[in-house]
Amino acid sequence: MNETELFDLELKLLLEAIYQRYHYDFRQYALSSLRRRVRHAMSRFGCEHISDLQRRLLHEPDLFAQAMQFFTVQVSEMFRDPDYFSVLRQHALPVLGTYPSIKLWVAGCSTGEEVWSLAILLHEEGLLDRSLIYATDINSDALAMAEAGVFPIDRMALFSQNYLKAGGKGSLSDYYSAAYNGAMFDRSLKRNIVFADHSLATDQVFSEVHLVSCRNVLIYFNRALQDRAVGLFHEALVYRGFLGLGSKESLQFGAHASAFEVCVREQRLYRKAS
Ligand SMILES: C[S@@+](CC[C@H](N)C(=O)[O-])C[C@H]1O[C@@H](n2cnc3c(N)ncnc32)[C@H](O)[C@@H]1O
Repeated sequence: MNETELFDLELKLLLEAIYQRYHYDFRQYALSSLRRRVRHAMSRFGCEHISDLQRRLLHEPDLFAQAMQFFTVQVSEMFRDPDYFSVLRQHALPVLGTYPSIKLWVAGCSTGEEVWSLAILLHEEGLLDRSLIYATDINSDALAMAEAGVFPIDRMALFSQNYLKAGGKGSLSDYYSAAYNGAMFDRSLKRNIVFADHSLATDQVFSEVHLVSCRNVLIYFNRALQDRAVGLFHEALVYRGFLGLGSKESLQFGAHASAFEVCVREQRLYRKAS
């Protein structure tokens, strides 16, 4: 057995141990990026072998909480890929506006940039008051930050540019004030957002929704887990409901490809077709 094979064997045992001990299931995550992130965790926690890391994670729950930052990737931006948000504005929101009440699910919301962006979009289209947004993730620290809605002030220049490119109708600064060394977004935007722990790997559907936005999450999953997640979205969506994915993600070749039709290919917007 060569070094890589040994590493992968230990990695498999580590993921099984984490699942048995903490019920977080990383066993079907894409291997290449998982390997990289586990190596970072090993160096951060001073472990020479994965088995050293496994022993510590099993016996030190606090360390496992810290290690979650390595098992999940939290990179996000407000109005990330601005064209995606303008496509939502042009293609999805006018349809959603025909429903008396609207439910949306941001799956893998991380620290909240995507869901606060969506709330601003709904507000500008006059739909926020009759919307309910579920913002879910497995990372509890990220969820707490998402709920707080305070982002570093030095990120506002980029977020403002994105907002304008996405067809923002005012200025992003209309929605935040400086507080707690950051930009605190208007509390009224989160009136209809429910932040909750939910795993696409182990949990079931919890509501019927009109739109699912799950961006930059499936790239970390292997094909089987991608199929499971998209299966949940399909089950959650109303007939003709919308599904938005990240710019590097697609339904093509997946088990549920034929159950959706492409709405805007370039921006990865789909509609439930059957
Ligand atoms: C790169 S972030 C994406 C953030 C945001 N959607 C965006 O595009 O800017 C990926 C998120 O997926 C979450 N995640 C990873 N595995 C998950 C799972 N099994 N169920 C739900 N969320 C998961 C991570 O915790 C992380 O917050």
